[in-house]
Amino acid sequence: MLLSELSYLEVEYYLQEKDTILIPTGSTEQHSPYGLLGTDFITAQAVAQEVGKRLDLVVAPTITYGMSQHHMSFAGTVTLSPKTYISLIKEISISFLEHGFKRIIFINGHGGNINPIKTAFDQIKYENYTGILQIISWYLLPEVQEIEKLLYADANGYHATPSEISITKYLNPKAFKTKPTVEKTVTKTKAYQPLSREEFKKIYPDGRVGSAPWLANEKDGKLILEEAVRATMEKVKEIMKLQII
Ligand code: NI
Repeated sequence: MLLSELSYLEVEYYLQEKDTILIPTGSTEQHSPYGLLGTDFITAQAVAQEVGKRLDLVVAPTITYGMSQHHMSFAGTVTLSPKTYISLIKEISISFLEHGFKRIIFINGHGGNINPIKTAFDQIKYENYTGILQIISWYLLPEVQEIEKLLYADANGYHATPSEISITKYLNPKAFKTKPTVEKTVTKTKAYQPLSREEFKKIYPDGRVGSAPWLANEKDGKLILEEAVRATMEKVKEIMKLQII
């Protein structure tokens, strides 16, 4: 169920039985000429909402902006500073903790968010709050990586992947009518991390990182999304079994 559609009384009622909330996190950033700027939050939201539906858990509104400074040389990208993003995650989590949620689970679709989310968790614990704080990045789950390997072998890459773009294509095929489908070469340039926006643009001029997004298709999207939902659900179930100290 979606938090945005509940009343505060319904949340109080939910909290008498359960203490878990799922929070989808992503970014608004370039995904090459082939993919949508919303790819990372659209995928995370789809996974979180389906898991919420199947496990009957509350899903918070999606955090659509993230840490995307390395994509800022591409139009349409929005980034929060690390400091702002850490505060955002911290204050959203604390709000839910204060109402009695004890298991705050971020369902994440963007690599750049992982470190600051974990730092926010450290800050919350430093402030002595009780509860379980977890992040599940759907695309890093072994079951998902397995299926990506089967479908795309080495061509999945690390950014603007055919996997994430397939999911968005499955969810919103109309948005792809204006996107290119032409094949290019896949370069496997190794780079240090993190990169500044200028460094990123120099090394990855069209925004792809070792990926072949033209391989994306709706059929794969449906398959990958289902696998991501199943694998995320297992992780969530494990977290729901943990004892609160
Ligand atoms: Ni992405």
